[in-house]
Amino acid sequence: STMLLLNGPNLGILGRREPAIYGTDTLADIEQAVADEVSEQGWKVLSLQRDSEGELVSAIHEHGPDSVGAVVNPGALMIAGWSLRDALASYEHPWIEVHLSNVWAREQFRHESIIAPLASGLVVGLGAYGYRLAARALLHVTGASR
Ligand code: DQA
Repeated sequence: STMLLLNGPNLGILGRREPAIYGTDTLADIEQAVADEVSEQGWKVLSLQRDSEGELVSAIHEHGPDSVGAVVNPGALMIAGWSLRDALASYEHPWIEVHLSNVWAREQFRHESIIAPLASGLVVGLGAYGYRLAARALLHVTGASR
């Protein structure tokens, strides 16, 4: 089985992007941690980071059908990424939303995610470790592990 690890704009430069807010782990570190988390169930991780919404939508169309679930950090697309929202609405497997930072401790414009109502659940504010937790939760909600 393959799970998708979807990251939106500005998440490809993790490690050097405002490290006081987002931490020093790189996306490669996160990919490794997520892969470690799900490997015991025999799952593989397909990591797709795109800086533009359209490319993220295309990636979901292309790879969604062959996957069993997803972990999604939409980045700023959480605020107004309506076509990402519609792509996720037609994604037929469970997915978990992740934000590295505690978005409610930050600016008002980050306090609402338009994709959150479609997620199985969210992990917010726990940094890179949150991706690990989300992957774990995905195993649970898909029934791959208890
Ligand atoms: C983020 C929070 C968003 O508000 C921001 O635009 C990001 C990163 C996070 O992981 O904390 O790009 O999704």
